[in-house]
Amino acid sequence: MSVTRMSNSVDVRTTLKQGIHLLRDAHVPGYTLAAELLLLHVTGRDRTWLYAHPEERLDASITEKYFALIGRRAAGEPTQHLTGHQEFWGLDFEVTADVLIPRPETEHLLEVALDRLAVRELRAGRQPKLAGENLSLIDIGTGSGCIAIALAKELPAAQTYATDISPAALAVAKRNAARLGFSNRITFLESNLFEAFSSSSYQPALSGSAGSAVTNHPSPQFDLVISNPPYISRREAHTIPVEVRAHEPEAALYGGEEGYELYGLLIPEAARHLKPGGLLVLELGHDSLAAVRPLFDTSGWANILVTNDLAGIPRVLSAERT
Ligand SMILES: C[S@@+](CC[C@H](N)C(=O)[O-])C[C@H]1O[C@@H](n2cnc3c(N)ncnc32)[C@H](O)[C@@H]1O
Repeated sequence: MSVTRMSNSVDVRTTLKQGIHLLRDAHVPGYTLAAELLLLHVTGRDRTWLYAHPEERLDASITEKYFALIGRRAAGEPTQHLTGHQEFWGLDFEVTADVLIPRPETEHLLEVALDRLAVRELRAGRQPKLAGENLSLIDIGTGSGCIAIALAKELPAAQTYATDISPAALAVAKRNAARLGFSNRITFLESNLFEAFSSSSYQPALSGSAGSAVTNHPSPQFDLVISNPPYISRREAHTIPVEVRAHEPEAALYGGEEGYELYGLLIPEAARHLKPGGLLVLELGHDSLAAVRPLFDTSGWANILVTNDLAGIPRVLSAERT
């Protein structure tokens, strides 16, 4: 789609208005916010400046850049790919086309995990380990690293691992960990689910680098396994917005023909890698619950909870290993 500017005005207010109109006409969801974020990006300013200086004139080079980005957004590129950023859990994450853009509903996973870890301690008559002392955690399918890094922020004393099957995604996650100051607190592993631990022997990596399955070291058992696995059905790929389908990585989107296939592998593997009393916390797709809940009917799981997101959709399934 080609986008042409509606006038030559270059003050902030008019430029923003034009950006908003162009995105609205192109039926971009959240067009006002997208137009604002792109203007903040090209000017390098913050939102307070945007609204405090509506009369300020912008250089032609800035407005040119702005309308070029507006054109790309109108044609379907996600705003976050144009700015290179997305906020999650109050932290600023780099995002590229190699990782899923962190979604706000994924923050519910963190809330459930942190609540349940605290409740587990209280039930055992202990004070919650506020800094995560002696806890071992793993994020399966870390993508941008958003879940693992948010956990490392909340539980600074915990031992945190993060895996992904995609080396390109892991590179982004490691860059995020480095930029946010968490490199030495997270071990990143290229792995298909728990495969990197499966040889019954595992060589822990130096902080921030990839570990490998070699000899003499027992695989860690975890207090928390957390994951937002790919869960969209390939059959329904045509129903998802083109900006997702055409721009986010396939490995981050599709769980298989039906969508829920990866849960069938992940849940039994998690059971093998959790300590007794350890927690599994999984994000669910909007219609995954009916297929995923029965996977916990085997013995070995207790206190199974489903938590809705703000839209009332069952979004998080969490369970305790007996
Ligand atoms: C839905 S994205 C989640 C990314 C990130 N955790 C988040 O919540 O934004 C799923 C991630 O799982 C990874 N993945 C897919 N299949 C995997 C597998 N078999 N083992 C490990 N990671 C996998 C993808 O590469 C992708 O980064």
